[in-house]
Amino acid sequence: MVVGIPKEIATGEKRVSVVPGIISRLKGISVVMERGAGEAAGFPDTAYVEQGVSIVDTSALYEQSDIILKIQTPTATEARLFKEGTTLISFLYPLTNLETIQILAARRVNALAMNLIPRSSRAQSMDALSSQAIISGYKAVLLGADSLPKLFPMLMTAAGTIPPAKVFVIGAGVAGLQAIAVARRLGAMVEAYDVRPAAKEEITSLGATFVELPIESKEEQAAGGYAKIQSEEFYRKQQELLTEHTQVSDIVITTALVPGRRAPILVSEDAVKKMRLGSVIVDLAAEQGGNCILTEPGKSVVKYGVTIHGLLNLPSTMAPQASQLYSRNITSFLLTILKDGTLNIDRKDDLIREPLVIFDGEIVHEPTKAALSEGMPK
Ligand code: NAI
Repeated sequence: MVVGIPKEIATGEKRVSVVPGIISRLKGISVVMERGAGEAAGFPDTAYVEQGVSIVDTSALYEQSDIILKIQTPTATEARLFKEGTTLISFLYPLTNLETIQILAARRVNALAMNLIPRSSRAQSMDALSSQAIISGYKAVLLGADSLPKLFPMLMTAAGTIPPAKVFVIGAGVAGLQAIAVARRLGAMVEAYDVRPAAKEEITSLGATFVELPIESKEEQAAGGYAKIQSEEFYRKQQELLTEHTQVSDIVITTALVPGRRAPILVSEDAVKKMRLGSVIVDLAAEQGGNCILTEPGKSVVKYGVTIHGLLNLPSTMAPQASQLYSRNITSFLLTILKDGTLNIDRKDDLIREPLVIFDGEIVHEPTKAALSEGMPK
C-alpha cells in the first residue's frame, strides 16, 4: 500500500495534506511525496525524508500511489494523472467539479470527501471542516482588527476613556464561535446571532450577547446540527432586523452557511450604507457567494466607506498549523478505511458511506448523480 502526498496547485494554497510529524501514524505504509509539497507550509522535503518518505516528481507520485491524500478537489488536469483504481481522500465539492468527478469515475477511482464525513462524536478527530473553520474564525477577527481604525479594548487613560470596539458575529457555528472567543479576548464587546436557537447557550457561555430576532421559523435545525434553508421572505425580514445591529457595529463577521446552497444574503446594500464610515465586514461565507450582497469573493473592497473582506481560504494563511490539524483529520480517516494494511471501504458504515462520492468508478453520491443525469454543464 503506497500513500501519496501531492503538491497542492490551487492558487494561494499553501497547505499540505500530511505534515512530517504525522507520518509515524502510518505504520507499515509506504509514503511518497511530490517534491516540495510541504515547502509553502514550512515543511522541507528533508523533514519528510527523515520520516522515511520518498520524494518523487508529479508523474511518479500518481503512478506509484494507491491512495492520494489531498486538500483541494483535484482539477480536471490533476484527475487525469490518477492511475486506475486509486483511492482519493480530499475536500471534494462534486457539484462544482463535475468534470473532475467524471474523469475520476472513468479511472475507476474511489473518491471520499473530507467535507462529507458525518459530524458525529465518533468522527470528531476526522472533522476537517471544524479544524479549518477554527482557523478561519481566528483569522477573521485579526483581519477585521487590522482594518479597523480603532482599538478593540476599552481604555481608561488620563487623556480620556476609549470605549471598546463592537463586534457582531452572524452565524455561530464553529468559525463564528471561535471569532467570538478571539474578539472577546482582544477586549471587544461582542454580540452574536444564529438562526439555530441551540447556539444561544454557546454564544452566551463565551461572554457574548445573543441577539434575538422577532422572526420565527419552524425548523431552524436540520440533521447533523446544520441550519435549514429558509424562505425568501424569512431572509428578507432577517436582513431588515439585522440592520439594526450591523449599523451600530464596528466589525461584522458573517459566517452563515446552509449546506449545499449559496450562502444566504443577510447584509443588504442598505445595511452597508447605514454602517459607520471605517467599519469593517469580514465575510467568511465568501467561498459560497457571501452573506453580504456587496462581497466580492477573493477580494477586499471598500463600499460606502466600509471595508468588506471576501478573502478565500483563510486557513491557508496559517498553513503550518492548518496543515498539522488537517493531517490529523485525514490520517484518522485513512486509518478507519484500512484493515490489516489493505483498503476496506465498508459501505455499511455511515462514516465511510456518507463521504463516498465515487466507489470503484461508480458515482454513488446522489446529488452528483442527479446533477449529471440532468445534463448540467460538464
Ligand atoms: P456551517 O458552517 O454550516 O454554518 C455556520 C453557521 O451559520 C451555523 O451555525 C448555522 O446555523 C448558521 N446559519 C445558517 N443560516 C443562517 C442564517 N440565515 N442566519 C444566521 N445564521 C445562520 O456550520 P458549522 O460551523 O459547520 O456547524 C454546523 C453544526 O454542526 C453546528 O450545529 C455545530 O455545533 C455542529 N457541529 C458538530 C460537531 C460534532 O458533533 N462533532 C462538530 C462540529 C460542528
